[in-house]
Amino acid sequence: MVTGGAGFIGSHLVERLLDEGHHVVCVDTFDDYYSGKEVNIGSIAEHPSFELQRTNILDYDALLASFNGAEVVFHQAAQPGVRVSIVNPFKTYSTNVNGTLNVLLASRDSDVKKVVYASSSSVYGNGVPMPTHEDCETKPISPYGVSKLATEHYCRVFGELYGMKIVALRYFTVFGPRQRPDMAIRKFVRLMESGQPVNIYGDGEQTRDFTFISDAIEANILAMGSSGADGEAVNIGGGSSVTVNQVVHKIRANYPESPEPIYQEVQQGDVDHTLSDNSKARELLGWKPAVSFDQGLKEFIDWYRSNIQGKAIGD
Ligand SMILES: NC(=O)c1ccc[n+]([C@@H]2O[C@H](COP(=O)([O-])OP(=O)(O)OC[C@H]3O[C@@H](n4cnc5c(N)ncnc54)[C@H](O)[C@@H]3O)[C@@H](O)[C@H]2O)c1
Repeated sequence: MVTGGAGFIGSHLVERLLDEGHHVVCVDTFDDYYSGKEVNIGSIAEHPSFELQRTNILDYDALLASFNGAEVVFHQAAQPGVRVSIVNPFKTYSTNVNGTLNVLLASRDSDVKKVVYASSSSVYGNGVPMPTHEDCETKPISPYGVSKLATEHYCRVFGELYGMKIVALRYFTVFGPRQRPDMAIRKFVRLMESGQPVNIYGDGEQTRDFTFISDAIEANILAMGSSGADGEAVNIGGGSSVTVNQVVHKIRANYPESPEPIYQEVQQGDVDHTLSDNSKARELLGWKPAVSFDQGLKEFIDWYRSNIQGKAIGD
């Protein structure tokens, strides 16, 4: 089962699981945070091993019924996004905390063998050493980060209370084809495609560790197949340290006519820097990133250009 299986990361995971011969139940409400998710699963909708359940993870009974013998649950469904969590912290809390509790309870009550939980680098906050190891202090600076940290604790406690095998993967900014429209790379490309200037919040010298989508998916597959990281939270980061100014510069190389970026005030809730120490993922999961930032960016732009023509994506 993949909760949030019609979303950016979830839809890639569903595809990979189907490719590997699994039967996959996708649970998704097609939340209105952004549109176009039907397209994400368009190519697999008719696959004989694919089952779509439009179940809300906030409805325990419906969720339990959707499990349908699932052995492994990849819990991706969430209200993502730092900014929206500042505007509407209750929605973030409800979907991410209450929803995850339902997923954990339904997994327990269905004797699921493994839960792989989508956590986030947002659990760390500012001021942690770079690269950041999992043992560093977790002091989130957004309601979103708080929700992800709270649910990580629930995952650990459910493992201890009920003997469940649960792994939390702390993704660092995932990007690639089908990236959410609210995320920076996609926003920048969309604006440059239409000849508009991009907005950079702050001086643009904040850095991000970007993780290409196929690397994030590989971490999920490894977590399903090994017991090494059960009960643990593990960083999954591509290993790049790229400033926002560099990201804009690299994208502009593809759009030489595009106007200069506009600098705006720093946004609340955004951390200054992220960079993962991946040693735990290497050791416990045998995972390492395979796609560089530049390679991934090229793939993203190619995807965007070939899909925007027929407006197949929700921009
Ligand atoms: N994209 C990233 O860079 C990133 C980084 C860190 C963590 N994460 C986490 O990874 C997961 C996937 O993120 P994404 O970027 O693919 O987001 P996404 O918004 O594309 O996917 C989330 C999916 O969950 C579904 N959903 C929302 N509320 C639901 C509900 N109540 N019941 C059922 N389905 C519901 C949405 O419709 C959507 O398809 C999330 O848990 C997110 O917090 C993402």
